[in-house]
Amino acid sequence: MPDGSETPDLRMRMLADGAAMPTLALGVWQVPDGPECEHAVRWALELGYRHIDTAQAYGNEASVGRALRDSGVPREEVFLTTKFYPGHSDAATEAEGSLRRLGVDQLDLYIVHWPQEGPTWAWPGMEEAHRRGHARSIGVSNFSVEELEQVSAVATIPPVVDQVQFSPFEYRRALLEECAERAIALEAYSPLGTGRHLSDPIVTDIAGRLGRTPAQVLIRWCLQRGTIVIPKSTHRERIAENGAVYDFALPDSDMTALDGLDRTGGTDHAREQKWW
Ligand code: A2P
Repeated sequence: MPDGSETPDLRMRMLADGAAMPTLALGVWQVPDGPECEHAVRWALELGYRHIDTAQAYGNEASVGRALRDSGVPREEVFLTTKFYPGHSDAATEAEGSLRRLGVDQLDLYIVHWPQEGPTWAWPGMEEAHRRGHARSIGVSNFSVEELEQVSAVATIPPVVDQVQFSPFEYRRALLEECAERAIALEAYSPLGTGRHLSDPIVTDIAGRLGRTPAQVLIRWCLQRGTIVIPKSTHRERIAENGAVYDFALPDSDMTALDGLDRTGGTDHAREQKWW
């Protein structure tokens, strides 16, 4: 599998640094630390997910770590991502806190959560976390093309992912194309529009015709556009549903219809509204 490509079944993506990443992750944004988070992560692992995406800012790393241990799935089989909270000053130090809370020796992926105070200052700390062996791969989130250019210009180790809000309704085509140019994997967060996109008539029509659910259509669109995708749910049956996306394909005509839902004008930006 060459760098930047997926396996033919789309299940795994090879990152530019040589790491292999499962293309479907359970996201746990807005899931409180405690039983709800532990259940979601444990169910996902039972159902065959091998990629969990958390963040320092979510406050639930301890639950993710507990669920990982309780699941009995060997640590090396699970791809674990967390994100540096850029309200803190040193990404390398904060990585140690994440390792402690998660109860693991190494993060598979460590990401700058958003480019607060500019896109470059946190990067040396990210590289230091990698040098110390605390993060196997390092990347960014919520970075536009311009911000990717800036961080790449100062990087010794370039970012291998950019995690952004991405769905047919937020089809950031210019950002996706630039990521491909730079061998940066785009990770799609909020692929269901935090639930809002599930009732769109074009999405529900395609789902009905294919005998699939709207969530599966939206997730599959992300996979076929070459991204890694991070749907969030705390319900077992939905986690199962969202994971059952490798046994069908969207025809080109449906991909094109979904592409047409984009409201960003194919932007190279990562966000329309920023919270930082
Ligand atoms: P819940 O966690 O209660 O299951 P996104 O991944 O775009 O952030 O969307 C997450 C939202 O969509 C959550 O509110 C989640 O609810 C809901 N959701 C996730 N999967 C499904 C699904 N398969 N069917 C309906 N709603 C879903």
